[in-house]
Amino acid sequence: MTQQVSVVARGFERAVGKGVRGVKTSDGAGVKLTRVLGTSVLRALDPFLMLDEFRSDEPQDYLAGFPDHPHRGFETITYMIAGRFRHRDNKGHEGILAAGGAQWMTAGRGIIHSEMPEQEAGLVHGFQLWLNLPRKDKMCEPTYRDLQTEDIPSVSLPGGANVRLLAGKVGSAIGPIDGRATEPVYLDLQLPAGAAADVPIPAGHEGFVYPFEGDVIVGRSLNSRELTRGELGVLASGEGTEGVHLRAKERPARVLVIAGKPLREPVVQYGPFVMTTPAEVEQAIVDYRAGRF
Ligand code: CO
Repeated sequence: MTQQVSVVARGFERAVGKGVRGVKTSDGAGVKLTRVLGTSVLRALDPFLMLDEFRSDEPQDYLAGFPDHPHRGFETITYMIAGRFRHRDNKGHEGILAAGGAQWMTAGRGIIHSEMPEQEAGLVHGFQLWLNLPRKDKMCEPTYRDLQTEDIPSVSLPGGANVRLLAGKVGSAIGPIDGRATEPVYLDLQLPAGAAADVPIPAGHEGFVYPFEGDVIVGRSLNSRELTRGELGVLASGEGTEGVHLRAKERPARVLVIAGKPLREPVVQYGPFVMTTPAEVEQAIVDYRAGRF
């Protein structure tokens, strides 16, 4: 479903600093991936804790998958560009993550789950984002939203771009995920060669842009900066602005635009447990070992 919206081109002045490249690493049972956020180079960006990109057509890079592992205190958002994964958890939920779809999991008080490839060959490409929960919601009941490709609205923008909305608002289009304290924006912006777009982002939000196909120019003023594929650009403070201006050069580009309202609470993280005090993390470990997840 595609609808036309008009966005007033004024005040889309958010700039980015120097692009940050991710770090090659592996996780789960040995899945090769690039950690873009959540590294020693870029620790975290409140309310976001981590962003991984996994992309390979070599089965040995992904076949081991992510067997049973716990989470407590935050949300994981998995967005699949290519390939299929099967998700299962200890509360009896099971689902397929297929190309173009996403899973928004609120781990809350605790979940143990696996994320395993549902294919033995071909390309796997996707992202996993970790979004923190406010202290008051960290012990909520775990919930899921499995989004199929048709559940994610797609909107044409003036200037030829197209945007898919997992969360957030562009013109009159609204992404399916709402009701979060962090008011997340999660957009997949597709820019044809030479096309430009003004992407709205609430003024108080922290966020970043991440071109994963082609290169992109951020900003229209003298402060504009080019990010090449795989370089994350942290958006400057949004005081008095409406969003960010993005432009593709001679090749098409595809860019994640992700933003959220910062929580400004302490973050105490031990692997997949993200709480606000060391005592809460110790309790998470005790509860996990005692089978209380
Ligand atoms: Co997980």
